[in-house]
Amino acid sequence: QTGMFTYDPGFTSTGSCESKITYIDGDEGVLLYRGYPIEQIAEGGDFLDTCYLLLYGELPTSEQKLDFVKRVTNHTMVHEQMSRFFQGFRRDAHPMAIMVGSVGALSAFYHDSTDISDPTQRMIASIRMIAKMPTLAAMAFKYSIGQPFMYPQNDLDYATNFLQMCFAVPCEPYKANPILSKAMDRIFILHADHEQNASTSTVRLAGSSGANPFACIAAGIASLWGPAHGGANEAALKMLAEIGSVDRIPEYIKRSKDKNDSFRLMGFGHRVYKHYDPRAKIMQQTCHEVLKEVGINDPLLDVAMELERIALSDDYFIEKKLYPNVDFYSGITLRAMGFPTDMFTVLFAVARTVGWIAQWKEMIEDPAQKIGRPRQLYSGATRRDYVAEGKRK
Ligand code: SDX
Repeated sequence: QTGMFTYDPGFTSTGSCESKITYIDGDEGVLLYRGYPIEQIAEGGDFLDTCYLLLYGELPTSEQKLDFVKRVTNHTMVHEQMSRFFQGFRRDAHPMAIMVGSVGALSAFYHDSTDISDPTQRMIASIRMIAKMPTLAAMAFKYSIGQPFMYPQNDLDYATNFLQMCFAVPCEPYKANPILSKAMDRIFILHADHEQNASTSTVRLAGSSGANPFACIAAGIASLWGPAHGGANEAALKMLAEIGSVDRIPEYIKRSKDKNDSFRLMGFGHRVYKHYDPRAKIMQQTCHEVLKEVGINDPLLDVAMELERIALSDDYFIEKKLYPNVDFYSGITLRAMGFPTDMFTVLFAVARTVGWIAQWKEMIEDPAQKIGRPRQLYSGATRRDYVAEGKRK
């Protein structure tokens, strides 16, 4: 019981809060964005459709969509001085470290024009965040591989523009691949929001003090980086590479059950889902599509599929209700698309920005909202008198 704490107003005593944005039924493996099933959005929609839905609560009409796409497109560039900001990082800095720093630095550029009591400025800040995250993420990637930054191209859709900024080089024309763009867009949709996960709760708590929204998103990025959360996609691929072949799976399944062994099956288990994570199914299908398109026969996919098959029929995993989560297949997919493992969580952060900012906006616009103030169950020393240094034993 020590260290237990309950949240103050804005959160009920169970540490939860009220929201209209995303619904999860962990027992049934259901995920709804504003009431629409993730499977239907991933199939029929695109990421900016999803951003509009999460921000405004309804799917956009064609006219609303056109206007929204234009507004996002017009904010994709970052202040030119940001490129100098990057020069301060070591070349081998983890891209997530760069993202925490550079997104936080955005508050220095837009702090004066972010009066969060003004609904228009709240929406502009939200759109700026959605628009600039891919640009900063691509800059972090380019910086880490020593290539020149590529500017956003306004004639490209969101996902293609991001891939262009990551993989195009000034000396060659960029050839977009519609299959990979669609896969990237779908991966963004799958990661867009997930109710009160650790990073979203971080953004809400930071934002409850009235802090600048760009700084709040930087706090969310920091929380997402952890291997138990968004860092699991990078950890899952490293785990599959360590297992290496199908015949070594039983040894790792055994280790994951051993309480004295810190090994966990990364990409498995979830705080809420006690059933198959609906995103994992769509991720697996996307993984097959991408591998087929790029003509890769990745042995790690065989290891992942066999690991899933064995785990889903294993009594321990059945009893603990452990299923693959969104991070299990994403690493194989992203590596096939050309991303290094240390970029996987950055891509998760690009997608999750709309969820973070939609939840931040919902909280700020709640008239009953107060600053979050987690309480605690105190288990330290009872009152005692101070002892001068010479008298201490
Ligand atoms: C994300 O919250 C969100 O919504 C997050 C997210 C989002 O979109 O924002 O969905 C994204 O973070 C997905 C989760 C990614 N993390 C991983 O894949 C890391 C590996 N997973 C585990 O670390 C773990 O499953 C957690 C951290 C995700 C959840 O940990 P819990 O709360 O301990 O899991 P649980 O309560 O469901 O565990 C039940 C039991 C426990 O054993 P007992 O204490 O009951 O004996 O299962 C065990 C756990 O120890 N267990 C595992 C396991 N995950 C849980 N055993 C082996 N391998 C695992 N992966």
